[in-house]
Amino acid sequence: MEAGTADGYIPTMIVLGIETSCDETAAAVVTDARAIRASVVLSQLDDHRPYGGVVPEIAARSHLDHLDVLIGRALDQAGVSLAELDGIAATGGPGLIGGVIVGVTMGKALALAHQKPFVAVNHLEGHALTCRLTDDVAFPYLLLLVSGGHCQLLAVEGVGRYSRLGGTIDDAVGEAFDKVAKMLGLGFPGGPAVEATARGGDPARFALPRPLVGRPGADFSFSGLKTAVRLAAESLPGDTFAARDLADLAASFQAAVADVLADRTDHALRTFRARHPDGTALVVAGGVAANQTLRTRLAEVAAAHGLPFTAPPPALCTDNAAMIAWAGLERLRLGLRDGLDFAPRPRWPLDPTSEAA
Ligand code: KG4
Ligand code: ZN
Repeated sequence: MEAGTADGYIPTMIVLGIETSCDETAAAVVTDARAIRASVVLSQLDDHRPYGGVVPEIAARSHLDHLDVLIGRALDQAGVSLAELDGIAATGGPGLIGGVIVGVTMGKALALAHQKPFVAVNHLEGHALTCRLTDDVAFPYLLLLVSGGHCQLLAVEGVGRYSRLGGTIDDAVGEAFDKVAKMLGLGFPGGPAVEATARGGDPARFALPRPLVGRPGADFSFSGLKTAVRLAAESLPGDTFAARDLADLAASFQAAVADVLADRTDHALRTFRARHPDGTALVVAGGVAANQTLRTRLAEVAAAHGLPFTAPPPALCTDNAAMIAWAGLERLRLGLRDGLDFAPRPRWPLDPTSEAA
């Protein structure tokens, strides 16, 4: 991608990003011309699949084994040396702490050895600012952040300036996808498996609940929906699921999730627009934003409010280091950087006035 270079803009900043907070080891190089010079992601899915979920110790060990090679590959692909970088950004949290320590320690060591500024990036800020890398979206915008560990609606007012309008009161939406996939024997990770299984299914066959829809506010709840899917699955005849039943149940679940997210986002947009008449867009980010049914529904919600809708390409919705490099670059060009005494954070809410991480 060479966005921003068409008008002849010559990049003046090049930043290396490192991401190790969950089960993807990633390194990337981006420039302030909004160009992704390299983005390499090594998924550890095969390491964790036998356990049906991410095992923190295995994740940390795997980051340690692969990170240096990935960084070398990203720099090679980008055609830059460490000496040419303007800064090094690593995810500083929130996430699985063993993995975060691996990435932060590597970032600090490279910064120290090559005399470069170091930036610790909030992983959620990486997701939140991706739309500025891909689509140059201006502040303020409303963000629906939906991933494996997070589900929240935030007014994004600037770099480091987030105001939380709502969030989940139980499970994150990605977690609900993963648990439903497990119940239906669709494997791990659940989101892409549920989406693939739902293709061609009848979303109206199972009457599943839409928790909190129509209620005031912009909070979410998914645990009741998850239980309803389990009960529906148990009510099906036979010991194994028929392909048609699986497709219909997956499609019904996905439709219920889309209804809930659309309703809650609509409520949040009303609050957001009252506070920010100059609001520029509705943006979705995080792993679940890769879901096409969801993207279509959210585009409709945005259109009803007369706002553009932005969703990064799926590969930049799931975890990657380009988003970390970009968020680091945004911080660096504002003069923000971190000391080598930065301590990795297992919890790190974007809006410090709200209790959720
Ligand atoms: O942002 P992400 O890669 O990692 C976290 O920071 O959590 O999000 C991973 C989550 C997982 O729960 C995965 O099942 C979900 O995103 N996901 C999807 C899709 N692709 C990934 N959920 C629904 N539909 C998808 N296509
Ligand atoms: Zn993420």
